[in-house]
Amino acid sequence: MAMDSLLHEGLSWLLPNLGLVVIALGLITAAAIPRVLTPKAATATATATETVNPPHENKNESESEIHPLLDFDVATRPPHPYRPWRSGKFAMTMGVSKVKPEEWLDLDNKYWQEQELRRQLLVESRPEVMQLLHGSEAACIEVLDTVVDYLTRRYPSLFYRPEGKDGYIYNGLTNLSFKITAPYELHPLEIAAQLVMEDLNLLVQGFGPEPDQYYLSASFSMAPAGWYLKERIGWPLWKIHGPVPLWEEKLRLSVERFFLRMKPGDIVMRQNFFLQTNNAMFQQEPFANSMLSAPKIEDIRIRHERQTLRRLPKTGAVLFTVRTYLTPVVDLQDEPDSIREFLGAVNALPESMAKYKGRDVWGEVVESWCKKQLEHTDTDSA
Ligand SMILES: *[C@@H]1O[C@H](CO)[C@@H](O)[C@H](O)[C@H]1NC(C)=O
Ligand SMILES: *[C@@H]1O[C@H](CO)[C@@H](O)[C@H](O)[C@H]1NC(C)=O
Repeated sequence: MAMDSLLHEGLSWLLPNLGLVVIALGLITAAAIPRVLTPKAATATATATETVNPPHENKNESESEIHPLLDFDVATRPPHPYRPWRSGKFAMTMGVSKVKPEEWLDLDNKYWQEQELRRQLLVESRPEVMQLLHGSEAACIEVLDTVVDYLTRRYPSLFYRPEGKDGYIYNGLTNLSFKITAPYELHPLEIAAQLVMEDLNLLVQGFGPEPDQYYLSASFSMAPAGWYLKERIGWPLWKIHGPVPLWEEKLRLSVERFFLRMKPGDIVMRQNFFLQTNNAMFQQEPFANSMLSAPKIEDIRIRHERQTLRRLPKTGAVLFTVRTYLTPVVDLQDEPDSIREFLGAVNALPESMAKYKGRDVWGEVVESWCKKQLEHTDTDSA
């Protein structure tokens, strides 16, 4: 089926295609998000323009250290309550912010459930979740090495090299061990996917006809947002973004420059969100296909993504990670500030963008729920 990647502009410039109902909304620079809502995102923000020329020459060693979290209890840690939306004027920027190396990837109590889904998909639908172009092997090995290095330093009690088993890593959350040296028993990207919670994408410069373009050369994606990995593999950035209104005019140049200038050692993140009317994490089919009538508020999910980018020093490939969260809109009910920002973001969409994003479908239901919650709040505090 035609995969016109309806990527959301500022927000999901790397992911996308939403049918009518996975809908990317407003966009955020971390600075604009109230600290109380997104404590992690509140550090070191940069605008797209600033980050195109990252001035990190004098790196402070202790800031690039990775401090071990020895007593980290994954089972009792809920997903970080990212609330990546804000009211105010709609804008199109990359909205990236710097990430401390020790905060690169995150673990929470969805780990087991999502790892089970990963293993199931790898068995039953392997080509749908993993695509590797010939020539991407070295970069995939570097992904695995980078992930192993990070996890064993950050969570040394959960991920470690087992005694008496040279060249292996033990995943203490799933009790699985993997050989992490050649000759590999599984593909290195598949191993990495069974250690972390993020989807892993490799973008390689010149891996296609145009020498300056970055191409998707390998990917493990458990959480496509209405697109088919099999179709997308090998595409350059601009094609992945497809016919997103304004992306070509407003973002293409800065995104492409950003990729060309990224330095190894710098890690950045950005967030985005869509709305969808089911609870599917693995969603290739455009959501609109099953959307016939006004959805119930209980069924509407905010699909939000925490994305990170870093350049791998040996191969020069760019590793793009995507952690996807599905939050029922009704889960916001005790967060009046979030609701107010959310409603503001939805209402701030320019008309063309709102149409493109399917606000027609879910807008009324979401708006009336939000307003009702805010009325309650106002009454309670009166
Ligand atoms: C590096 O950062 C640490 C912690 O933020 C600080 O204590 C130290 O003084 C900094 N060193 C330099 C050379 O800036
Ligand atoms: C891993 O092993 C520990 C100790 O034997 C056990 O308590 C735990 O349930 C196991 N976890 C999984 C996911 O199999």
